[in-house]
Amino acid sequence: MTALVSFERVFEVLDLPPAISDRPGAVDLPPGSSMIEFDDVGFRYPAADEVSLASLESVAVLDKRPSEAVLHHVSFRAEPGELVALVGPSGAGKTTISQLVPRMYDAVSGAVRVGGHDVRDITLRSLRDAVGVVTQDAHLFHDTIRANLAYARPEATQEQMWAAMDAAQIGAVVRALPDGLDTVVGDRGYRLSGGEKQRLAIARLLLKEPSIVVLDEATAHLDSESEAAVQQALATALAGRTSLVIAHRLSTVRDADRILVVEDGRLVDSGRHTELLARGGLYAELYRTQFETQFETRGESRFGEVRGQALDAGRVEPTNSAAMADARDQDVVDTENRDTDRGEAERDRAERDDTKAATVG
Ligand SMILES: Nc1ncnc2c1ncn2[C@@H]1O[C@H](COP(=O)(O)OP(=O)(O)OP(=O)(O)O)[C@@H](O)[C@H]1O
Ligand SMILES: [Mg+2]
Repeated sequence: MTALVSFERVFEVLDLPPAISDRPGAVDLPPGSSMIEFDDVGFRYPAADEVSLASLESVAVLDKRPSEAVLHHVSFRAEPGELVALVGPSGAGKTTISQLVPRMYDAVSGAVRVGGHDVRDITLRSLRDAVGVVTQDAHLFHDTIRANLAYARPEATQEQMWAAMDAAQIGAVVRALPDGLDTVVGDRGYRLSGGEKQRLAIARLLLKEPSIVVLDEATAHLDSESEAAVQQALATALAGRTSLVIAHRLSTVRDADRILVVEDGRLVDSGRHTELLARGGLYAELYRTQFETQFETRGESRFGEVRGQALDAGRVEPTNSAAMADARDQDVVDTENRDTDRGEAERDRAERDDTKAATVG
């Protein structure tokens, strides 16, 4: 391939319209909007020929078959402050449902609404300010802890940063570092453990103060101390916010206000844990295979307790509109790493091996 062809392709890429963008006349979501509503949502991922470049089509035969529908007639509501859990077999569509809330993709039929507004009618920026996403694998910048936190809220004071880190159970760890907030994190800096990374990401979320949290609970096993700390940090982060959680933990399904059971892209059941268990359907089966075997640690049982305390104390106004206006959407997953959990697990393993090698060497 000649350099000239490559340049042409660069411009072709630059000219591609972004898949998701503000429609003309899009309005800002009113601060504090926190209801999530799926109204008969159908979805399929874009087919190869819908996202490809013309120049590539001359050298590759693209699959022109429409991709298969992934979600069918999904309808539910998460009321302000509710904790709604998604449960279902692998490939059922849980992650896909969660990605439609911050509008990583658009529904193909039906509508996704936040605070009563169709997400396609509101500005992406205001939507992503309102929705904080915590993925299984927290992404931090290779920069100082201060910079990582400031990204969520540029005008945050040092006091606010410490308060967020303490609430996220990471304050003590950072205080013990010689450079404190100015410690550079990442591969070439201080290597945070998996649990520490997650807690720093939660501190970032607390600074951002979204009214909605979308959480993909970690499946990776942390040591029990980190586990307890992460659970406590999450309980604080979720309290008073509308939360949509892809549940992998027993404590979460027990505490959920409502559990949605997803199978083959459809909602097949919903209810509270005891109710669904008594019904003896798919949920009971999933419970036996995914949840029952989990050992309940102290940390896990704290989840409901902390959440309950925060709600009792009336902390149900998580929105700080001034702060949100400037916040970035960094908590939304980065697209490169969004594809599979398998990829993440592999990276984690590689990272652990690296750490081991470094310790040994
Ligand atoms: N980027 C993508 N492009 C095409 N198809 C996809 C994409 N991501 C997921 N799918 C497909 O959509 C379906 C639902 O996947 P999804 O990731 O939502 O399932 P899940 O319930 O989150 O599963 P898991 O529990 O394994 O995370 C699967 O058939 C999957 O293969
Ligand atoms: Mg998933």
